[in-house]
Amino acid sequence: MKGTKIVLGVGGGIAAYKAVMLARELGRRGAELRVLLTPSATRFIGAPTFGGITGRAAITDLWDPGYPGEVHVELSEWADAMVIAPATANLMARVCAGMADDVVLATLSCMNGPRLLAPAMHERMWLSPATQRNAERLQKDGMQLVGPVRGPLASGESGWGRLAGAETIADAVEQAIATARAPEQARPLTGRHVVISAGPTQEDIDPVRFISNHSSGRMGFALARVAVARGARVSLVAGPTRIAPPEGAELHSVRSARDMQSAIESLVGDCHILIMSAAVADYRPAEIAEQKLKKADKGAEMRIELVKNPDILAGLGAARKGALPVLIGFAMETHDVLNYARGKLRSKGADLIVANEAAVGFGRDDTQVTLVSEENDEVLPPGSKLEAAARILDCAAERLEAAEASTTKS
Ligand code: C5P
Repeated sequence: MKGTKIVLGVGGGIAAYKAVMLARELGRRGAELRVLLTPSATRFIGAPTFGGITGRAAITDLWDPGYPGEVHVELSEWADAMVIAPATANLMARVCAGMADDVVLATLSCMNGPRLLAPAMHERMWLSPATQRNAERLQKDGMQLVGPVRGPLASGESGWGRLAGAETIADAVEQAIATARAPEQARPLTGRHVVISAGPTQEDIDPVRFISNHSSGRMGFALARVAVARGARVSLVAGPTRIAPPEGAELHSVRSARDMQSAIESLVGDCHILIMSAAVADYRPAEIAEQKLKKADKGAEMRIELVKNPDILAGLGAARKGALPVLIGFAMETHDVLNYARGKLRSKGADLIVANEAAVGFGRDDTQVTLVSEENDEVLPPGSKLEAAARILDCAAERLEAAEASTTKS
């Protein structure tokens, strides 16, 4: 988001502290920020807090001495987009009524560029007829709502009304700006079904032990986020991970390779792009002990017999015959990465293999991958997993178009 300018308005709800995380996330992506607080937001969070994050204290009133002109007019002309997080029920109602009696609402009412609101409130407030009516009205008036999502609420209960995550809101802002700049290319995966596998699998030994690997799920989750932002319907089949899966994708949680296989097979019927980024265990214990294995029974050595797991990607690659237009696999190796990747392209019947070295990929936010296909090897520069995901999905979309063009011809 380098070079983009964003106004972040903060409403007066308990989730106001999360606006700091959002400011940090937008800043981390390279955006320049101005933060505005409503008077009631200042009861939850202080203006100087944002100074530490953005380099400028937040603005709290329409008569800010830093702006000799009219602050709302100047900022709305300066910004590429404005996002309000959290947007309370009261703030939403005031926006609907066209009120402009604080710096947040006045700036919003002046904005020409994308306007996003991330609501956060108690579930009963969110579901109340007035708020639902206002949510609809705001969208008709051209504003985009991000969330709320379901989850734990400040009251200790759980339900709808939780502020969407900082990454989800930042993704929506980024996408809204891209859409405003190039509407024709905005959501190129609209109407497409993308199935993505992510994370490790766990293969049980007994009721308390399993065999697994270090995969964090970050690469698959990054792919899912980019695919959602580009308009796709995304099915995310994920093994157990420590990080939260992205919002907006349909999550299928699995544990073993065989669970993953049946989940994926039930989803590929109308799938346009399948990306197997999961680190699927190649072997599983031949038998799962019904009771915990005891040391005393086993003596100084213990052997576990393993049997081969189904190769999900290779199975789908061999059986695709026209269905499943784009199939992408991953190859993570400790050595000889590109040679192994080329071998996998053939043995798995994939269109593209994303190759990387184990030392570079596991558990981190950044990566360096090479996209290996029959045509060429494309070495991507080191960067974030989101950047790699964006390029992988560009290639997937190009291949999908080519596959569809050749079916139409024949
Ligand atoms: O053979 P290898 O495990 O190195 O291949 C990696 C690729 O194959 C990944 O895309 C992975 O998701 C997929 N795979 C699979 N089923 C397995 C093992 C790997 O689909 N049992």
